Amino acid sequence: MKLDIAVLSGDGIGPEVTAQAIKALEAIAHNFDHSFIFKEGLVGAIAIDKTGNPLPDETLELCVQTDAVLFGAIGAPKYDNDPSAAVRPEQGLLKLRKELGLYANIRPVKAYPTLIDKSPLKREIIEGTDISIYRELTGGIYFGKKELSDDGNIASDLCEYSREEIERIAHLAFKAAQKRRKKLTLVDKANVLESSRLWRKVVTEIATAYSDVTLDFLFVDNAAMQMILNPSQFDVILTENMFGDIISDEASVIGGSIGLLASASIGNTCCMFEPIHGSYPQATGKGIANPIAAILSAAMLLEHFNLLGEANAIRDAVEKALELNLTTSDLNPSNPLTTEKVGDFIADYILNPEDSNIN
Ligand code: IPM
Ligand code: MN
Repeated sequence: MKLDIAVLSGDGIGPEVTAQAIKALEAIAHNFDHSFIFKEGLVGAIAIDKTGNPLPDETLELCVQTDAVLFGAIGAPKYDNDPSAAVRPEQGLLKLRKELGLYANIRPVKAYPTLIDKSPLKREIIEGTDISIYRELTGGIYFGKKELSDDGNIASDLCEYSREEIERIAHLAFKAAQKRRKKLTLVDKANVLESSRLWRKVVTEIATAYSDVTLDFLFVDNAAMQMILNPSQFDVILTENMFGDIISDEASVIGGSIGLLASASIGNTCCMFEPIHGSYPQATGKGIANPIAAILSAAMLLEHFNLLGEANAIRDAVEKALELNLTTSDLNPSNPLTTEKVGDFIADYILNPEDSNIN
């Protein structure tokens, strides 16, 4: 297969971890006789520095014209500490999601058997956890009307959802549940929010078309508690934009490191793959960032194009690295490998599982 892939590695550790994902994809292309062409574009703080725009038109154009987008990370402290900044790196990512119509963000969370004791949560609590979070990505409070009063003392963000926005992701989540353990949990705040009540109504209606899937509901505050108390109860979680953002960071604790969590953002025509972690500015250039979330995002890219053997080849290599404790300091503080060495091992293992080694 020939795929044109836009590479938006962005800020902070983005370029370092994305380079490892590309290495893994190149190893796959070599072994399975595919042609992957990588085309770089600017996004985030680096794009602001170079062009004044967190998402330059050429970058958007590149993403529209390629088959898939591989995204790194965005964000820089100089913007985080300046609430009055008019242009922010995050606007680049949000605009990209909106313009590409990437309404469904899929975030798998798994307790890897070899990492169970790395999680701050107890083994007996997290064992067997395997969750797929379906986070709505182009609506809700992130994209609602924002206002600041003239005197600067009153601010508001509107949380708005339409039936259509709920329906399209709900269908994807139900279909995913059908292929998994057939349970779907809608996370909302329907005891308080009108928008959540619409989610419940629409999702309940759609459930009748998926009678093999059990639907249940959890308020988001309770869901946050259940995620820590009993995460293996979850199969597919469906939720709106901001709840999904928060719950997925919380869920990353189960795997032992946020540096393991990959995601796919899917729309009707475009798709983008990115680690869920941020730009981790303190780690930039130190070679300590975990590249596995970026590498597993590349596996999700392959899966999206139905290259299932290829996606599994990446996952096998990642599991091997975890099993051999060939990981970065977040998971292996006493004897860490650099970002690049972890990437080298994984690419080597993909190329030749029989005799890969670290050198
Ligand atoms: C994420 C990130 C983004 C979000 C930020 C960087 C805008 O936290 O992808 O989870 O809030 O969606
Ligand atoms: Mn987030």
